[in-house]
Amino acid sequence: MQTLYVELGDRRYPIFIGSQLKPQQLLEPYIPAKQLMIVTNTTVGELYLDDYVTAIQQLGKTVATCILPDGEKYKNIEHLNLIFDALLEAGFNRDCTVLALGGGVIGDMAGFASACFQRGVYFIQVPTTLLSQVDSSVGGKTGINHPLGKNMIGAFQQPQVVLADMSQLATLPDRELSAGLAEVIKYALLGDIEFLAWLEAHMDGLVGRDATLLAEAVYRSCAHKAAIVARDEKEQGERALLNLGHTFGHAIESYLGYGVWLHGEAVATGMVMAADLSHRMGWISAEDLARTKNIIHRANLPVACPEIPLDDFLAYMAHDKKVLDGQLRLVLLKQLGRAIITRDFDTKQMKQAILANQNERDRDYS
Ligand code: NAD
Ligand code: GLY
Repeated sequence: MQTLYVELGDRRYPIFIGSQLKPQQLLEPYIPAKQLMIVTNTTVGELYLDDYVTAIQQLGKTVATCILPDGEKYKNIEHLNLIFDALLEAGFNRDCTVLALGGGVIGDMAGFASACFQRGVYFIQVPTTLLSQVDSSVGGKTGINHPLGKNMIGAFQQPQVVLADMSQLATLPDRELSAGLAEVIKYALLGDIEFLAWLEAHMDGLVGRDATLLAEAVYRSCAHKAAIVARDEKEQGERALLNLGHTFGHAIESYLGYGVWLHGEAVATGMVMAADLSHRMGWISAEDLARTKNIIHRANLPVACPEIPLDDFLAYMAHDKKVLDGQLRLVLLKQLGRAIITRDFDTKQMKQAILANQNERDRDYS
């Protein structure tokens, strides 16, 4: 097992990464009181809930469960309310702990519920998808979607501990594994060219679920994220770089309907659009753009999205949280392996980059 820390002063917390981890031993120090609510969904609950209920009960805790329907389309206010119902029906107090057992959807919802319930209770992340292990479980962003925009309602709520068990990835569908690889590739493109070379060397093994390679990818991804979060917890600056591809990706996800394209798939195509615009701006070469598309393609991720009317695409982009003072800011690649956040891009070229990476190619959009 490997351990990383997110260094946030007295809110510092560990990320445990390994296989066949023992929740009793690892979680015990991070459950301050008796009551613990496990939030999961029907799919993950079927696979892993009993193990966690037993493990926590063996610590002498009172365990309650809240099992939500499975899917991004349920990451909304109605289903968030079911967690509050469960906490209140169980008679849980201000010193209770909410444990998220699932992917990013469950982590975001359970985390947000824990931030709101009685103005904030304890929170533990047990991420069970690759995407949630490398990204969403670390750093404290939690929230839900609104029909007009993704992740528009939420809170920063850091967990007490993150427990990333590689063995749980064995049951993950291939498409979900690839979606997680999108966020892994993101760290390489935005800040670590050497990691990109490592991914190029090992992508076949990662897609083939080599457990050692996956653990290494999770560790390196979490190390990147933990370092950035420690420097900029509330996204006053640098943390926005973690949204490489996300402004374009959120537009794809929102337009197609939450859950039609997976978050990681939309981010993958979004990163191609960001790289394409960076190339049009003269910042990265045609070879760098090809390298970006190639690694995304090798992870079995889409490099282009279905045709989306440009006005709709732009309208969804305008809902992005990086819009400040009415101005769109984008995360682009100043070099391959070095992202920046900037307002300084050509809008016409941005539209070209969007259209070139839909099913129609390189149409002139003057
Ligand atoms: P998800 O939570 O929907 O999980 C994907 C699917 O895999 C679901 O059907 C789930 O039931 C299933 N699943 C989960 N673990 C499994 C396992 N071990 N075996 C078999 N099936 C399993 O999707 P996700 O990709 O984990 O997360 C996407 C969400 O995360 C999005 O809502 C996105 O906005 C959010 N996100 C948040 C952050 C953040 O910083 N908070 C960062 C990135 C993404
Ligand atoms: N997933 C982007 C962030 O956590 O900031």
